[in-house]
Amino acid sequence: MTVPLISPSILSADFAKLGEEVRAIDAAGADWIHVDVMDGHFVPNITIGPVVIKALRPYTAKPFDVHLMIAPIDPYLEAFAEAGADHIIVHPEAGPHIHRTVQAIRALGKKPGISLNPGTPAKMLDYLIDDIDIVLVMSVNPGFGGQSFITSQLRKIEAIRKMIDKTGRDIHLEVDGGIDHTTAALCVSAGATALVAGTASFRGGPSHYATNIAALKGTG
Ligand code: DX5
Ligand code: ZN
Repeated sequence: MTVPLISPSILSADFAKLGEEVRAIDAAGADWIHVDVMDGHFVPNITIGPVVIKALRPYTAKPFDVHLMIAPIDPYLEAFAEAGADHIIVHPEAGPHIHRTVQAIRALGKKPGISLNPGTPAKMLDYLIDDIDIVLVMSVNPGFGGQSFITSQLRKIEAIRKMIDKTGRDIHLEVDGGIDHTTAALCVSAGATALVAGTASFRGGPSHYATNIAALKGTG
């Protein structure tokens, strides 16, 4: 069985000591660091922006997996790139010209990703898949950590796995929302290669991070 990459969402970290939290989750075996950016408009919650990403950049050399839940997107891409984002993941519903947005991310030298909400079909990727490096399947409605995994998304993961295999390109299939050790295994069986986990990564505080991540990878 594939061992998935784990991208802990710092949304579930202690915001009063984010730098230390990033350092600790990196040392515990995180592969990427997932940053959930919310604007209170595209999603019903507000989190953090480029200044925080810039402040966190010195705390880890791991890729920042930046998930933008904002509208509009295009005016802010450069700021996220300059702040230190490595992956820039966007929702097709957040702007009128998703293809252009993907090209703009690539032109900034960053890895473009597309995120699909639970109600958004895999078909949305038909004319984008050749230009992206990551597909992020939302297994909860975006906006909050700690929600329950929506099982219908497993069929979507399977369908996207086939689409990716057809391209012959190295595209990560990442799943976000309600990931614990049980849903992690289901996602990997369906074809996922990377998993976002907020609650399940940060549960119990720093002394538990390494065991939490090993459990999600299925190696614990
Ligand atoms: C939801 C975010 C997720 C979320 C995951 O909008 O995109 O990354 O924080 O949190 P858990 O793992 O707690 O479901
Ligand atoms: Zn996310």
